[in-house]
Amino acid sequence: MESLNKIIDESKQGEALHLATEPTTGKKLFLESYGCQMNFSDSEIVASILINKGFTTTQNYEEADVIFVNTCAIRENAEQKVRNRLNDFKRVKQKNPKAVVGVLGCMAERLKAQFLEQEKLVDIVVGPDAYRDLPNLIEEAEDGRKAINVILSKEETYADLTPVRLGGNGVTAFISITRGCDNMCSFCVVPFTRGRERSRDPETIVKEAHDLFEQGYREVTLLGQNVDSYLWSGGGLKKEVLSDEQKANAINFAQLLEKVALVHPDLRVRFSTSHPKDMTDEVLHTMAKYENICNYIHLPVQSGNTRVLELMNRGYSRQWYLERMAAIRTIIPDCGISTDIITGFCSETEEEHQDTLSLMELVQYDFAFMFMYSERPKTLAERKYKDDIAEDVKKRRLTEVVNLQQKNSALRTKAAVGKVHRVLVEGPSKKSEDMLMGRNSQNTVVVFPKAYFKKGDYVNVRVESCTSTTLIGNAI
Ligand code: SAH
Ligand code: SF4
Ligand code: F3S
Repeated sequence: MESLNKIIDESKQGEALHLATEPTTGKKLFLESYGCQMNFSDSEIVASILINKGFTTTQNYEEADVIFVNTCAIRENAEQKVRNRLNDFKRVKQKNPKAVVGVLGCMAERLKAQFLEQEKLVDIVVGPDAYRDLPNLIEEAEDGRKAINVILSKEETYADLTPVRLGGNGVTAFISITRGCDNMCSFCVVPFTRGRERSRDPETIVKEAHDLFEQGYREVTLLGQNVDSYLWSGGGLKKEVLSDEQKANAINFAQLLEKVALVHPDLRVRFSTSHPKDMTDEVLHTMAKYENICNYIHLPVQSGNTRVLELMNRGYSRQWYLERMAAIRTIIPDCGISTDIITGFCSETEEEHQDTLSLMELVQYDFAFMFMYSERPKTLAERKYKDDIAEDVKKRRLTEVVNLQQKNSALRTKAAVGKVHRVLVEGPSKKSEDMLMGRNSQNTVVVFPKAYFKKGDYVNVRVESCTSTTLIGNAI
């Protein structure tokens, strides 16, 4: 699972999105997504574009006319998963030579035309900013020509398109607020696969949130690689060309958050991802001010050591991160906190790894997404540093990080027992039809007996027991 991070459930990785629809050309689309929330959100744009062209969707790739895989390039193993999956699609081509197979998203952008050379089976390669071109590209491919569009844009935000909500629960939805990333963390491929950062018109964001509420949705998650750098000035001008005065008049993330919170008090608002170098007290105060902005922040630290953070080009030190944590604890005392951690980054010593463990002890994260460093072509780290930590060392450090996190998660859920939590019901629990599942404000999963409650309800639940990841209780 990639984080942007959160929280596409592991079980959803690669899940096909399905929707029954209206007037059709008779052509069937099979669309499978990997990677972060942003990719899943993009798939809803892709579906919207093609459904408008008369496609219907199917969950069975063997009967599809068009098979699309929306891919992730964040780590080597994310790409391996996609290559394996492409093999499965060979069968479809054997049965139906007219079927079109397309690779979308970050891996398409990273490999570009190389993809068409390496994988004979692939007919279309499309980067994340070129989805409007899909109907043309499909036509080209149907005529027997390989089709590619990997042009990255400085403007595209798909702001005018209404995503088709697929495979969801009808209660929670994603809204993209920025695209791309300008940060250039040295380990990260995202700036290369998604291009320059751009913010979306706030009016279209608020409208989307409003429409979702009208349709019965009760929670929106605002998405961006770094939501804190959201900035919109009237004409949609880019940040780098704004004067100081224009910047002062522009809408920043705290102001956007407030606008979305005001859509309706029963619409919960979440966001991801926050960046430690850019997260302001203004955002924290806005969160504290509105009951419906969830008390939950995903604040990836990556490493607990300042030298490693510098090599990673993260733009903050251990001290700075801990000060941001202190600000959260002061302004929002009951805030849920999660993080991303990388083990075995170039030249990381044993002591520096210990600094990551000690920081985890200090912060006591509720959840964490933990990864071994995976070198990515073209990144700063690949060009400047040696990937010199042995695989077994990376792995052992990861195990230590994972074990410590399990201990901390268990402590955090235990601390929640005995208290009453306001839960937004998302649907039946995985284990039993008689139980419902939802989340509290801090994003922890809560299960409780169904009784007469239904999805979309807010229920006050007294938590009586827990596992390391789930709270179990009864409605009061
Ligand atoms: N924009 C988000 C992260 C997006 S990628 C942020 O700034 O936090 C999600 C996570 O994948 C990152 O936080 C990082 O922990 C991990 N990651 C990114 N590149 C990686 C790499 N080359 N190897 C291992 N993990 C990586
Ligand atoms: Fe990658 Fe850093 Fe941008 Fe996150 S902030 S997407 S880790 S470059
Ligand atoms: Fe997301 Fe993976 Fe791309 S994490 S931004 S889909 S590289």
